[in-house]
Amino acid sequence: MAQIYLNGQWQEGATATVSILDRGFIFGDGIYEMIAVYAGVAFELDAHLQRLESSLASVRITAPLNREGFRALMAELIERNGGGNQAIYLQLTRGVAPRDHRFPVPEGAATLLLMSSPLPQPPPIATAVTADDSRWHNCHIKTINLLANVLLRQQAIESGASEAILLREGYLTEGAASNIFIVTDQTVATPPKSCHILPGITRQVVLDLAHQAGISVEERQISRAQLLTADEIWMTSSTKEIVPVVRVDGAAVGRGEPGPMWHQLKQQFQTYKQQQCGLCML
Ligand code: PDD
Repeated sequence: MAQIYLNGQWQEGATATVSILDRGFIFGDGIYEMIAVYAGVAFELDAHLQRLESSLASVRITAPLNREGFRALMAELIERNGGGNQAIYLQLTRGVAPRDHRFPVPEGAATLLLMSSPLPQPPPIATAVTADDSRWHNCHIKTINLLANVLLRQQAIESGASEAILLREGYLTEGAASNIFIVTDQTVATPPKSCHILPGITRQVVLDLAHQAGISVEERQISRAQLLTADEIWMTSSTKEIVPVVRVDGAAVGRGEPGPMWHQLKQQFQTYKQQQCGLCML
């Protein structure tokens, strides 16, 4: 089992434990980050740490470390787990306190966990079902309180699909654990940042790469009809990069295969990854 970091100690992951009174366990009172590591280098680390700080500020948990501290821990975690490609999970909760909804007084120490697992190869394609976005109005915070996301993903799986594409009042928000893009008439579109979507790190990389390539890009509201008649649909996340969604609700997206715009952006994404993480060209 991989080495993990929990509250100041490096341990074997299989035997590490937290208190039953940890507010993460009792209330889901915490936040997290998931970061891809390529060739021993954490991809878009600054953006992830910035979002981590923003999540902490939103839920009013005091960061136990500054950015340099998080960077140093991350580097040690990567090295202790042998470098290469990894998926790093970082979680911070409001710590251990007698069960009471209000914040503990005085504020206790946050529980900090970092762990690593092998980074899986992204799936070549995905299929999706649409579902009503039953989540709250703070989806921009990367909270560990993921019950709605879990139920929505499970609904997709039990319908024979791999992701749920969520609609709130008839408009696209995101996936159960991904951001969603559509391509229509050579224009790439994705919903704008709001309290109804997570500001995905991969989403931003894809937007920047599309801009740089001179592709027409729009951050705008996308209706159900626009989603279902799109030429291409993609889902993006740190662990899956950009995956083409080839079927939605049983119907083919475009020709039912990865589209030309996806091929272009996927290629640019690989090149960017290689530049950022110092990978040798294969
Ligand atoms: N989730 N939206 C939601 C609800 C997510 O859970 C995720 C990622 C994203 C994509 O964000 P990013 O590109 O920063 O990974 C969007 C991670 C991978 C997870 O929970 O495992």
